[in-house]
Amino acid sequence: MAPAELRILAVLSSPLPLRVLLLLSLLSAVDVVSAAAPPLKFGINYGQIANNLPHPTQVSGLLQSLNVNRVKLYDADPAVLTAFAGTGVEFIVGNEDLQNLTDARKARAWVAQHVQPFLPNTRITCITVGNEVLSGKDTVAMQNLLPAMQAVYQAVVALGLASQVNVSTAHSVNILASSYPPSSGVFREELGQYIQPILNFHAEVGSPFLINAYPFFAYKASPGSVSLPYVLFEPNPGVVDPNTNLTYDNMLYAQIDAMYAAMKAMGHTDLTVRISETGWPSKGDEDEVGATVANAAAYNGNLMKRIAMGQGTPLRPDVPIDVFVFALFNEDMKPGPASERNYGLFYPNGTPVYNLGFNGASFSPSPTLSSSSKPTITFLMAVVVLLSGFFL
Ligand SMILES: *[C@@H]1O[C@H](CO)[C@@H](O)[C@H](O)[C@H]1NC(C)=O
Ligand SMILES: *[C@@H]1O[C@H](CO)[C@@H](O)[C@H](O)[C@H]1NC(C)=O
Ligand SMILES: *[C@@H]1O[C@H](CO)[C@@H](O)[C@H](O)[C@H]1NC(C)=O
Repeated sequence: MAPAELRILAVLSSPLPLRVLLLLSLLSAVDVVSAAAPPLKFGINYGQIANNLPHPTQVSGLLQSLNVNRVKLYDADPAVLTAFAGTGVEFIVGNEDLQNLTDARKARAWVAQHVQPFLPNTRITCITVGNEVLSGKDTVAMQNLLPAMQAVYQAVVALGLASQVNVSTAHSVNILASSYPPSSGVFREELGQYIQPILNFHAEVGSPFLINAYPFFAYKASPGSVSLPYVLFEPNPGVVDPNTNLTYDNMLYAQIDAMYAAMKAMGHTDLTVRISETGWPSKGDEDEVGATVANAAAYNGNLMKRIAMGQGTPLRPDVPIDVFVFALFNEDMKPGPASERNYGLFYPNGTPVYNLGFNGASFSPSPTLSSSSKPTITFLMAVVVLLSGFFL
């Protein structure tokens, strides 16, 4: 066990007044500890649909000081991939041009120009082909999805990158016809023709099944019947799945396990589900019930505690949840309801939207990150504060 973890345990297991004292000494020691602390198993979506975001070099500095070492992009922005060279940060990159990617030559040209040149200095570990295609309305895109994934995979193999780079796609939980109780999870019948061969593809090439899961949407749709503590990971009695007797104390885990059940119904118990997006908006339109700073802070803060504990779902307790939070910044150019522009943990100027324990960064106009803009509270410290608040 790492010294930091021992110290956290010491704090948690001592009597209350001593805990406060120990906590204070822990906080003063944490800067020293954080230098050697292993990065947390926590990723973040770096969306860029905005006209006011800081330069990628500054973002690289911000994320390193928070000890976040996994980032997901919706494209393969060379400015970002260059800015993170040598940082060890792991990237998921994306390409949504399915039509072109079904062409083997074009798929290979894209991987050769947009992925390969950045390896190995920038660690690109996954390419997502399309985003939420099967829950959309474009049936041509649905038909192109698997052929595009296959062409990109063939390109990755041909370029000798298959051991370093996975090929996947991200699905909305709306591909499920039923998700409650979790054991009854099943894919929408009309999507079976697409999903079955995609599951076979994942099993063949050994890549993860990615889902975008937002308990916020369920709450916003029926605030009268969905329990807020249940969606926010707050203390609640939980619900028992009558088919498995497993107890669920939060909706995100129920959604993950419903996905496992749906895959099992199609003959696959050999795949891993990862959360490519989840989050909670801090602001919304008047009719967007639940979109508040307090709820966003609770959702993301509680989720980070679960990640720090290495917790798995009731069905897969030994598989720690693997999560990319949405999103790093508020994105002012996103269309749709106000909530869409307010999922960020940070404002574009680097200040936190709410207190998750990070101090943020004050970006200078210069494109290089100076030491003055380095946040003073590290991500490890944020987790310590979160855990302490939880147990004190
Ligand atoms: C598809 O590929 C062609 C070049 O072969 C390119 O001109 C076009 O912009 C690509 N389509 C998209 C949507 O990027
Ligand atoms: C690819 O995905 C598989 C299954 O989730 C995982 O075990 C493996 O580590 C991934 N490879 C990389 C390079 O991340
Ligand atoms: C669930 O619990 C009930 C009551 O204890 C028991 O009869 C049933 O066999 C259990 N089901 C499973 C799947 O464990």
